[in-house]
Amino acid sequence: MKFFIDTANLAQIKEAAEFGVLDGVTTNPSLMAKEGIKGEAAVMKHYVDICNIVKGGDVSAEVLSTDLAGMIREGEALAALHPQIVVKIPMIRDGIKALKYFSEKGIKTNCTLVFSPGQALLAAKAGATYVSPFIGRLDDVSFDGVDLIAQIVHIYGNYGYKTQVLAASIRHSLHIIRCAEAGADVATCPLSAITDLLKHPLTDIGLAKFLEDARK
Ligand code: E4P
Repeated sequence: MKFFIDTANLAQIKEAAEFGVLDGVTTNPSLMAKEGIKGEAAVMKHYVDICNIVKGGDVSAEVLSTDLAGMIREGEALAALHPQIVVKIPMIRDGIKALKYFSEKGIKTNCTLVFSPGQALLAAKAGATYVSPFIGRLDDVSFDGVDLIAQIVHIYGNYGYKTQVLAASIRHSLHIIRCAEAGADVATCPLSAITDLLKHPLTDIGLAKFLEDARK
């Protein structure tokens, strides 16, 4: 399972990279706004800065257009920024066409805002590199988001689709475990959800005892 971090905060991305288990980064317009990154030039520079921290890892950069021509224009500019950029495209009608276009050009894509198995099937048929089901937002409206991950993994397995299931909108470490059980290829998480995987009281008690015994 790959671990991506879901933030545009450079300090957190550095911390996650130093932790040693980081495979990539996802961002979205809300996360960029949260960091105060405004204007096209600043946004583009920020994506390059992120790529330079996560050496070799995929970095999702989202288009803001909702029409095909706009998505192609923006996506091509984003992809030209750095070889690690993955163009993030919303799950809308022109988004499907854009996924197909970029897939045929060999440009990596991440189909975002996916909330149903039908949407995931369309993304795979259009050749998306990643599909991003938002599990936390589904949980928020009383649907089990991890059930959707399992459904998509099952469907993709039936047909051998290469699209990777990128579990998004993850809120805590149990989400990561349940997505791993369901067979998600990637989990994109807040850093805290990843570091919380470390925690177990028996580990702390056991280590304290080992160190105490070693001192005797
Ligand atoms: C993924 O690519 C999205 O940016 C993200 O996971 C959305 O998460 P949220 O529901 O916490 O905003």
